[in-house]
Amino acid sequence: MDSRPIGVFDSGLGGLTAVRELTSLLPGEDIIYFGDTGRVPYGSRSRDTIIQYARQDVAFLRSFDLKAIVIACGTVSSTAMEVLERENPIPIIGVVEPSARAAAAASRNGVIGLIGTQATIRTGAYLRRIRALRPDVKLIDVACPLFVPLVENGRFRPGDIVVETVAREYLAPIKEAGADTLVLGCTHYPLLQDVLASEMGPGVALISSGAEGARAVRERLAAAGALNDPGRRGHCRFYVSDSIGGFVSLASVFLGHDVTGEVSRVDITRY
Ligand code: DGL
Repeated sequence: MDSRPIGVFDSGLGGLTAVRELTSLLPGEDIIYFGDTGRVPYGSRSRDTIIQYARQDVAFLRSFDLKAIVIACGTVSSTAMEVLERENPIPIIGVVEPSARAAAAASRNGVIGLIGTQATIRTGAYLRRIRALRPDVKLIDVACPLFVPLVENGRFRPGDIVVETVAREYLAPIKEAGADTLVLGCTHYPLLQDVLASEMGPGVALISSGAEGARAVRERLAAAGALNDPGRRGHCRFYVSDSIGGFVSLASVFLGHDVTGEVSRVDITRY
């Protein structure tokens, strides 16, 4: 048993999709979350900048005594995973590998759609992992740079004409190709789940990179005998690099409980 907390980070709110799943799968775990809300989005930035930001995020999280760090961000997982693993002697779990595994297992017709940030699509990381598992797969990938800013501004609900129009345009080539599986390769996108599901239509499996990342954490910690007592009630503490107010209201809605008083601001440039 290991009672130390799990560190989770993302460029903003998206990593909460992993936190939500983690707290449901592993209710006994304590979580320290960092959302780099002052510098979101990461997905339109260069590789060097993403690596620099990710190093700072990890350095901040490592100021706590953690048992593992979850990169709850498709952009950082696909761009900086190897660098972070090499530089940090602590288990680091990303979202690409577990999402690729889930997609390869879910697709019946071998046509898979992938949506992610520009940086994620540029790396080809999901494509390589999915092809390694299922070389027969036809993969249609589409960068969706407008989704993260929309989600960060609370524009993710069905009936929102702006988000629905953007989703229709981004998903058109994936629908046309007849994909039966859609990988939400950015952890912000599961917040758009209802919009994306209704645009794709019935019978299309949506793979949430946040949820798959959380399942991989459970597997990894269980295999290492490093889970906390499942009978206790874990606690989440949140840190952000910009104002607390906006994060509190959206995170409270998304997590289904009030996080007021649980969020602090951190100057991430010091790390
Ligand atoms: N949640 C991040 C991801 O999974 C969003 C990246 C961004 O900030 O653009 O890619």
